[in-house]
Amino acid sequence: MTTCAVILAAGLGKRMKSATPKVVHSLFNKPIVTYPVEAVKAVAGVSKIVLVIGRHSEERLKDIFKEDPMVSFAYQTHLLGTADALKSGLGTLDGGQFDYTLVMTADAPLIRGETLQGLIDRHITGGNAVTVLSFVSSNPSSYGRVMRNPGGTIKCIIENPDASDEERKINEVNSGIYVFSRDALPLLDKIAVNAKKGEFYLTDIVSIANEHGLKVEAQKMLDEDEFIGINSRAELLMALNAMKLRTNRHLMAEGVTLMDENTTLISPGVAIGRDTIIYPNVILEGKTQIGEGCVIYSNVRIVNSTIEADVVVKDSTLIEDSAVQSGAAVGPFAHLRPGAVIGKKAKVGNFVEIKKSTLGYNTKASHLSYIGDASVGDNVNIGAGTITCNYDGVNKFKTVIEDGVFIGSDSQLVAPVTIGKGAFVGAGSTITQDVPSDALALSRVRQRTILDWVKAKFSTEKHKT
Ligand code: UD1
Ligand code: CA
Repeated sequence: MTTCAVILAAGLGKRMKSATPKVVHSLFNKPIVTYPVEAVKAVAGVSKIVLVIGRHSEERLKDIFKEDPMVSFAYQTHLLGTADALKSGLGTLDGGQFDYTLVMTADAPLIRGETLQGLIDRHITGGNAVTVLSFVSSNPSSYGRVMRNPGGTIKCIIENPDASDEERKINEVNSGIYVFSRDALPLLDKIAVNAKKGEFYLTDIVSIANEHGLKVEAQKMLDEDEFIGINSRAELLMALNAMKLRTNRHLMAEGVTLMDENTTLISPGVAIGRDTIIYPNVILEGKTQIGEGCVIYSNVRIVNSTIEADVVVKDSTLIEDSAVQSGAAVGPFAHLRPGAVIGKKAKVGNFVEIKKSTLGYNTKASHLSYIGDASVGDNVNIGAGTITCNYDGVNKFKTVIEDGVFIGSDSQLVAPVTIGKGAFVGAGSTITQDVPSDALALSRVRQRTILDWVKAKFSTEKHKT
């Protein structure tokens, strides 16, 4: 038994009013089309995925899947509708090589692998030639309506523009997902052009298969969110909201506390440990992983980062491609740029920016600092306003701060430079040379104090007034 999947993605998506092809639009930072492709991969026995592309979407889609060995491409020369798109897809398969063909639109990102698996299983056990996945929609207007015979079997699908007022009241609609047996595929050639739109509608295969005495079934689902098809920006937002709630509710079921499921945007695939608490307005993206018992306060965005257990991320902090080890605290108003590694129990505080640097155990940079291209040891104190001067306009240089160092406030460390173990740097110093272990380095100008200078300068003038 062999199964292939054909995903229709050549359409323009005119209703998006966009220069970007519809299915390339981003949903939680991934193109819409990647979701159905992932769902198909979860189905047992699918050995090939054909993506039907067109002139407008070709370049972008080929780029998205260039490293995916399961996905191949079929080119639809003219956008003549969904039936023509499927024929373009099958054209690359050396004619009926597969027993079953799973067909789906590329614009329905909430579809789950289990649902597709269930549809295929039903198709096979029912001995069907065509199985359509339908669902009950609270707002059916942008979908084809499923017409059933008095006995309950599916008769045909009528697209919204072709439906009568009476037919439009039907709320069972076509999801755009189908399974075909090998014997149904030749019927694609019998589909006539739709007079109103000048397109060949794949949906017409239902009535044609019925006329030819083939077994057609519509499997009706009730969770409409799973089948949201994105045609417009409003539907893109609907899909985003549905995906957000699905993820948020799953996380809560797994032991994560959310204070506001509506403003918490967590990308599917982000992992969060138990007893972590997430305040409103938090965004967690990409391959982010968060350990147990963390607290993430409001207005935090974390991208592609690993946060270990018991970390506190305080308000308005941005963390990108970084790692924060257990028990550390970051923020408020901190920025961890790519390559920051914050050690266990370390503290990164207000208005501190860290890039491509490692901070060791219990090290603290609590206020107003820039640490770039630095390796900072354990138990280091970095005073307020400390800056690593890592860039000379051409090259970047490294700063090494060894264990137990104390850097006084408002110091500049001009790299390349090393501050040896246990050394002190006096406040306000500009350090341009290595400081040996246990030494004190001071580079500020010695203070001059002139007693009674103010009186001498201003006393006569003050007396005048
Ligand atoms: C289609 C179905 C409708 C169903 C809905 C579910 C038809 C005629 N209608 O309508 O019954 O309720 O999906 O979301 O099939 N595409 C191509 N080439 C084309 C035209 C479309 O590849 O020439 C692709 C699009 O990129 C898209 C998919 O096919 O991914 C569906 O096309 P779309 O225009 O979105 O169809 P709907 O009007 O939503
Ligand atoms: Ca659609």
